[in-house]
Amino acid sequence: MDARTGALLEEKKNMKNLEIKHDELTAEEFRYLWKSVWGEPPSLEQTELAMKNSLFRVSVYIDNRIVAMARAIGDKGLCYYIKDVVVHPDYQRKGIGKILIQEILKFINDNGIPETQIFVELCAMPDKIPFYKKFGFESNEAQRLRIMHQVRK
Ligand SMILES: CC(C)(COP(=O)(O)OP(=O)(O)OC[C@H]1O[C@@H](n2cnc3c(N)ncnc32)[C@H](O)[C@@H]1OP(=O)(O)O)[C@@H](O)C(=O)NCCC(=O)NCCS
Repeated sequence: MDARTGALLEEKKNMKNLEIKHDELTAEEFRYLWKSVWGEPPSLEQTELAMKNSLFRVSVYIDNRIVAMARAIGDKGLCYYIKDVVVHPDYQRKGIGKILIQEILKFINDNGIPETQIFVELCAMPDKIPFYKKFGFESNEAQRLRIMHQVRK
């Protein structure tokens, strides 16, 4: 067993009835967790499409209740983007966010071409940067550019 898996199991032992699921996060669960931290969630229809097209979804349950989620999008070869990392406010600072990131990094490692390097990116508010730095993420001078595109048919 490698150190990362050992640490993960240690986290789990300390939390009763904690369950980690892969690719089972539903649009309803996503919207529930989104609302718990960011307010009004995106529509069900948009969220269902996003769940279907994510490369990897991880969700965490305690006593069968969803408490955390994260997902990865990308191409598996060259780049990944980590999105929607959320731990319900009642369960933050208990090591669950760490489980989410470790699970995603494991997925990336398991699916990458051996001995190659893959960009793993994400966008974080300043107060969350220390959390991501614990996993080795660093910012550079690039700025995030974005537009909210209005879909018209
Ligand atoms: C950011 C978030 C996912 C962290 O999850 P969490 O379960 O509280 O984090 P953990 O308990 O696993 O923390 C892991 C480590 O990071 C540290 N950490 C967590 N949040 C931190 C913060 N905001 N600032 C500094 N350190 C932080 C913890 O102290 C812990 O350190 P340790 O390993 O040395 O003990 C959670 O706060 C959250 O969901 N926030 C609201 C949604 C959000 O903003 N998501 C991020 C989008 S970019």
